Amino acid sequence: MARDRSTYRCQECGLAAAKPGTCPDCARTGTYVQLVEEWVAPARGPARAGVSASRPQPIGDIRVDGGGQRVSSGMAELDRVLGGGVVTGSLVLIGGDPGIGKSTLLLQVSRLLAERAGPVLYVSGEESAGQVKLRADRLGPSPAGLYFVAETDLQVVEAHVGAIQPRILVVDSIQTVYLRGLESAPGSVSQVRECGARLMALAKGRGIATFLVGHVTKEGAIAGPRVLEHLVDTVLYFEGEQHHAYRVLRGVKNRFGSTNEIGVFEMGERGLTEVRNPSGFFLAERPKDAAGSVVVASLEGTRPLLVEIQALVTPAGFGTPRRTVLGADYNRVCLLLAVLEKRVGFPLQSQDAFVNVAGGARVAEPAADLGLVLAAASSYLDRPLRSDLVVVGEVGLAGEVRAVTGLEARLKEAAALGFTGAVVPQSCLTGRGGHPLDVQGVGSVDEAVKVLLGP
Ligand code: TYD
Ligand code: MG
Repeated sequence: MARDRSTYRCQECGLAAAKPGTCPDCARTGTYVQLVEEWVAPARGPARAGVSASRPQPIGDIRVDGGGQRVSSGMAELDRVLGGGVVTGSLVLIGGDPGIGKSTLLLQVSRLLAERAGPVLYVSGEESAGQVKLRADRLGPSPAGLYFVAETDLQVVEAHVGAIQPRILVVDSIQTVYLRGLESAPGSVSQVRECGARLMALAKGRGIATFLVGHVTKEGAIAGPRVLEHLVDTVLYFEGEQHHAYRVLRGVKNRFGSTNEIGVFEMGERGLTEVRNPSGFFLAERPKDAAGSVVVASLEGTRPLLVEIQALVTPAGFGTPRRTVLGADYNRVCLLLAVLEKRVGFPLQSQDAFVNVAGGARVAEPAADLGLVLAAASSYLDRPLRSDLVVVGEVGLAGEVRAVTGLEARLKEAAALGFTGAVVPQSCLTGRGGHPLDVQGVGSVDEAVKVLLGP
């Protein structure tokens, strides 16, 4: 019989110790984190060694009943990120900055699912019933099957689930709910971990698709232990710029589909609307024939996305030249500017450089490299590129333009949006024809600059 005893646990890294003090693991990195006392919850259920209800069986004989069934949420952008709809009994974690629209998204999804799939229970530990009602009213009349409760005690939530028998459960947020048996505060490592495990058992046991909202720390990870990300089936991040209307839902982990898929939404007066044509959305305000503006075709998951990169290169005053980057990786841009300086011979050391991805979009792919380089070169020379041209290609330190994946999909998207020409890596062209656009292959940055911007 195990004795109930307290342990001390670090709220940062989850290290357990028998004595109070500061966490020795975190102290090594210079941060002194108090160990917080917590009680080990008594083991639940029969756990005598050798006696178990589980039974191994040949994998071919396993019958799938209920699990793995999908319902469409009625939002194509969300369905795609989930891998084709909401899976019965799955546990989905949605992380994101405060105010980005997680609660709005889930309330909208709840409304749609209440109409299509059966009762939905929305549990909020953050907002009162009145606040949620106000938001729901902004979105339109609510369907009958949508239930709301402001509650943070997980055992009470479980009782409500037993009474309402929902098909879908939303917990907003995992950091506000708590289990009575545990001493530590809601949002602590042990609470988040235990509550996550309880909700997982509930989701799997009753076949309830469960959505959890998770807060994001300053560093951008979901607050609480990483174990939560390991535990759940799917992890999605809801991202965007506070001052831009567009939001991206990005899959980071998915046991029921591929990751790297994105869904694009626009936040408006009446909640989020799906953006079916994100490329058109991002290119809507593009200036024609402006130096420093280049359109790149990036690939998000299976989905091509055209975005406009803008660069402004101007003579620097004195001292270290400034580099400011919005929407792309700062270090990558510095590297590409260095390539431009060394391999093409532009004296960028005496130039300030500002790079911005228009519309608040982000490019993370190396395939946008050539576009970034050409935008900077075009601004430096003050010569615009042809405005009906898209640019694709990774750039190496030797100034070579490297192959990219998914060229066909990128070019198709560009053709659909009315572009007539493309600049692509030379190595992508060997032995293939029939491109939807007038395609030009380039082998190096130097060649690309000479061909497109003149000698
Ligand atoms: P919210 O869903 O509360 O964010 P989170 O749960 O991620 O913290 O969204 C809050 C923001 O969304 C808030 O700044 C107001 C804005 N918003 C709109 O612009 N239009 C709307 O219809 C709604 C409901 C919210
Ligand atoms: Mg919220």
